[in-house]
Amino acid sequence: MRLGPLTTNQDLDPARLRAAFGTFPSGVVAVAAEVDGQLTGLAASSFTSVSLDPPLVSFSVANTSKTWPDLRRAAHLGLTVLAAGHGEVCRRLAGPVAHRFDDVAVTSSEDGAVTLDEGLARFDCTVYREVEAGDHTIVILRLHAVETLPDGGDATLPLIFHRSGFGQLSRPA
Ligand SMILES: Cc1cc2nc3c(=O)[nH]c(=O)nc-3n(C[C@H](O)[C@H](O)[C@H](O)COP(=O)(O)O)c2cc1C
Repeated sequence: MRLGPLTTNQDLDPARLRAAFGTFPSGVVAVAAEVDGQLTGLAASSFTSVSLDPPLVSFSVANTSKTWPDLRRAAHLGLTVLAAGHGEVCRRLAGPVAHRFDDVAVTSSEDGAVTLDEGLARFDCTVYREVEAGDHTIVILRLHAVETLPDGGDATLPLIFHRSGFGQLSRPA
């Protein structure tokens, strides 16, 4: 199968864009913090590493998010790279707010950063910059601490989000 011609003046409607964006596979992170004593967070597939010096990462949050206005008030934010077995956890983190952290082991730092205990890596961050970008805001985060699970074969594969569904990497034999 081959791609057709790229013609301008197309209607770049959301469905068409989602389908195209969805061909690009990504991992998923949990962005979470304790805000006013409540576990608060969401799932985000827009995570990207940005800079080593200073250490920066980013994710994009929809301007319609009801959670981000609370999360951004936290002194520190936790970020966790989800593992292959986290499909259900990921859906919960994107679902009804009252149940986002049901049955998930988390650790809260003194500064309120919340990370999942069974992720592949976790980061402690603060908001470095927020950049308006259409219907999303690019949130650039400065890292203050990082912990990474050593590579342990299939048990340490990441959750993959691709074409609106979850997949998994397979290791070459
Ligand atoms: C796999 C997956 C990836 C997601 N990635 C993002 C993302 O990058 N940015 C975003 O704003 N929402 C993303 N969401 C949606 C949020 O997790 C959440 O459902 C949304 O922000 C609405 O909840 P809120 O109003 O509490 O923020 C994603 C959801 C799923 C299931």
